[in-house]
Amino acid sequence: MTASSSADYIGIQECRGCHEDAAASYGASLHGQKGFTQKSDHACEACHGPGGDHAAAGGDASTITSFSKKTRSAGNAACLQCHEQGAVMHFAGGIHDARKVSCTDCHRIHHPGQGAELLKATDEIALCLTCHHTMRSDLMKASHHPMREGKMTCSDCHNPHGSTTDALVAGDSINDKCYECHAEKRGPFLWDHVPAREDCTHCHDPHGSNHQRLLNARVPYLCQRCHSEPRHPGTLYDASNVNTRAIYNRACLNCHATVHGSNHPSGQTFMR
Ligand code: HEC
Ligand code: HEC
Ligand code: HEC
Ligand code: HEC
Ligand code: HEC
Ligand code: HEC
Ligand code: HEC
Ligand code: HEC
Ligand code: HEC
Ligand code: HEC
Repeated sequence: MTASSSADYIGIQECRGCHEDAAASYGASLHGQKGFTQKSDHACEACHGPGGDHAAAGGDASTITSFSKKTRSAGNAACLQCHEQGAVMHFAGGIHDARKVSCTDCHRIHHPGQGAELLKATDEIALCLTCHHTMRSDLMKASHHPMREGKMTCSDCHNPHGSTTDALVAGDSINDKCYECHAEKRGPFLWDHVPAREDCTHCHDPHGSNHQRLLNARVPYLCQRCHSEPRHPGTLYDASNVNTRAIYNRACLNCHATVHGSNHPSGQTFMR
């Protein structure tokens, strides 16, 4: 962890002697309070590594794990000693890790922001937006999940540490995540609409949209991305009518109302 070959631990009292402020903020912190190392003399060195050489040198920064960008991997490794399980399990090799986003880009140990989870920023959304700026405009769109209202946050859908699903989605699949809160869309349906079964984001943008209901595009254009020329039977209505009607409000949905799937015996075209 340090450039030194020495593994001599010197103990918290020694550190405190030269780092009164850091010792005080540590003592007041969750780690200090939860006492995971308080019983041990090696509280500081659990994260910063053995400090023998550092103290002997009178405090040379290169002799201690300092969590600066330069020692990033040493820093993550120090945290992962205790946090390799649970929520953080898939960190190594995940997209944030791969892009050199480290624990201390999101967390602060000595002087965290208010709120839970030792986050660096005042709240989670503010934290994420410091790097994902372009998402800010999505959240402001007319149709949105209630994130800006403070009722939902990014980690309701994402695990920022890593996951086994694309885009750090915290579920077995995107759809499984959506079903957690929109259970009625899970079915089972007698008649599945293939894209809804496959991936909700074929039609919805979970971050925000200027079309109603978080839709990626307006109906009928949304439907026409996949159904360029529906073969509508002329006996039921004039086919040329479809395009005319399509420009009105609900367009295709006037007739095909159960677009997520149908349980009606004759619902194979999602009209009931
Ligand atoms: C749980 C891990 C952890 C423990 C325990 C810990 N530190 Fe830190 N320390 C960090 C991290 C991470 C930083 C980088 C800044 C931050 O996150 O607050 C840091 C920063 C520092 C700094 C740089 C100046 C500053 O305040 O930001 C000093 C000095 C320091 N720690 C000393 C100590 C001392 C002394 C102790 C024991 C009393 C201690 N640390 C315990 C993780 C830890
Ligand atoms: C003899 C006094 C002394 C002792 C004992 C000492 N330090 Fe330091 N430490 C310093 C000085 C001085 C610096 C500043 C070095 C610099 O800025 O180049 C420093 C730097 C650091 C840094 C890097 C801060 C930064 O800004 O990157 C950390 C972390 C740190 N010390 C932790 C510890 C820990 C943990 C202990 C106990 C194991 C400890 N120190 C013991 C004097 C000491
Ligand atoms: C020696 C073991 C150890 C090390 C090293 C360690 N932690 Fe912790 N950490 C703990 C314990 C114990 C808790 C308290 C867990 C609890 O309350 O359930 C904790 C709590 C946390 C929490 C808050 C969890 C919550 O529920 O609010 C975060 C975030 C965290 N640690 C991040 C870090 C980071 C970042 C590092 C590296 C800079 C680190 N930890 C290093 C043991 C450790
Ligand atoms: C991209 C930002 C980000 C990075 C990088 C990050 N975290 Fe977190 N961490 C969060 C957020 C946000 C939460 C709270 C929401 C959650 O639990 O997912 C959290 C929660 C935690 C918790 C509490 C989890 C629980 O059980 O509820 C621990 C422990 C933790 N982080 C440790 C780490 C460690 C260790 C690293 C580095 C290996 C790390 N984090 C890297 C953003 C991050
Ligand atoms: C309702 C669930 C949900 C919420 C809440 C959510 N996301 Fe997502 N996010 C997803 C899904 C699903 C994907 C993958 C499909 C896609 O790209 O639309 C994704 C993809 C992403 C991507 C990668 C692709 C892209 O669009 O750039 C980023 C970055 C992202 N989310 C960041 C965030 C941030 C930051 C927040 C909080 C402000 C957030 N997400 C809130 C579900 C969500
Ligand atoms: C320090 C900067 C930083 C912070 C803070 C940060 N991210 Fe990221 N995130 C990145 C980078 C870099 C990537 C790689 C892709 C890219 O370049 O956009 C990324 C990618 C992602 C992706 C896309 C994954 C994929 O497979 O496409 C998601 C989702 C994501 N971040 C969510 C979050 C969430 C949620 C938070 C807040 C808890 C967060 N990020 C905080 C830098 C950051
Ligand atoms: C943590 C719970 C949660 C998760 C997970 C979730 N949602 Fe939502 N969703 C909500 C809430 C809350 C609302 C707002 C309901 C309201 O205002 O009545 C909502 C509303 C919606 C709406 C309607 C928006 C509108 O303008 O009426 C759509 C569409 C939607 N979600 C799609 C998704 C998709 C797709 C996913 C998966 C990527 C998803 N949701 C995941 C909680 C969630
Ligand atoms: C083929 C496109 C399509 C797919 C795929 C799709 N939806 Fe929808 N969704 C729509 C349309 C169109 C509406 C608006 C319906 C209306 O206004 O009557 C809607 C509305 C919604 C609403 C709000 C109104 C309501 O019915 O509750 C939620 C929530 C929702 N969808 C969730 C989901 C979830 C979860 C998935 C994935 C299982 C999904 N959608 C997949 C097209 C789709
Ligand atoms: C991402 C592509 C996609 C989108 C967008 C989409 N669909 Fe579909 N739809 C399909 C597929 C694939 C099938 C199954 C076709 C088959 O079995 O031949 C299907 C089937 C249907 C069927 C039943 C066809 C049959 O013969 O059983 C109807 C009706 C339908 N879609 C209406 C809609 C409407 C209305 C919308 C817009 C709200 C829409 N679709 C959006 C891909 C899509
Ligand atoms: C006025 C009512 C009405 C409107 C509006 C309408 N449809 Fe249909 N659609 C039907 C009827 C009726 C059928 C045939 C049902 C059957 O055979 O049971 C059908 C069949 C379909 C089929 C399955 C047969 C095929 O052609 O593959 C698709 C796909 C479809 N419609 C898509 C659309 C799309 C996309 C829109 C909007 C652009 C739309 N419909 C608008 C009534 C309508």
